[in-house]
Amino acid sequence: MTKTEVEQKWEELEHKCKSCTKCPLSETRTNVVFGSGSRKAKLMFVGEAPGEKEDLSGIPFVGAAGKLLDKYLYAVDIDRNDVFIANMLKCRPPKNRDPKEEEQDLCIEYLREQVRLIRPKIIVCLGRIAAKRLIKEDFMITKEHGIFFEKNGFTICAVYHPSALLRDPRKKEDMLVDMQKIKKKLDEVEK
Ligand code: URA
Repeated sequence: MTKTEVEQKWEELEHKCKSCTKCPLSETRTNVVFGSGSRKAKLMFVGEAPGEKEDLSGIPFVGAAGKLLDKYLYAVDIDRNDVFIANMLKCRPPKNRDPKEEEQDLCIEYLREQVRLIRPKIIVCLGRIAAKRLIKEDFMITKEHGIFFEKNGFTICAVYHPSALLRDPRKKEDMLVDMQKIKKKLDEVEK
């Protein structure tokens, strides 16, 4: 695909996603949270679903969890503008409940297409919801966070969801170690 073809496909995808009415979340959303960052990113983060702040702004990870994610990115010297940040679901589930299987089934094609167009080298799942869907069904976040898997030509791993770190700060040390590993891997693929 040429650069212009990719750009055109991206615009079509964004338009399609932002006008999506495939599931009832479209009736309660303020904004579709399509994703943000660089379309040339080597590293892509995938969270769960937008929360209140994200729904209001249309930008992923801008609330308390997002601010914590920003701190980890800063700590390991990764610029948020150089990565792409997306979610499994593009619309906010009411009261921030977990995404339903059927919502994920309907929404995942947008993420797949984002991955096809960006072609990142490394995908990092933020939390168990994305890890179970993108790495393996029986993924155990407490045991398997920070481990790299090779899947469909991508290097993929999962770290704790920043909201989990807000609930249980004891996990923060593990998170820093995982983020340092991710930065090292990123430096390797960028060589
Ligand atoms: N939590 C997520 O999983 N995604 C966001 O965008 C914000 C909070």
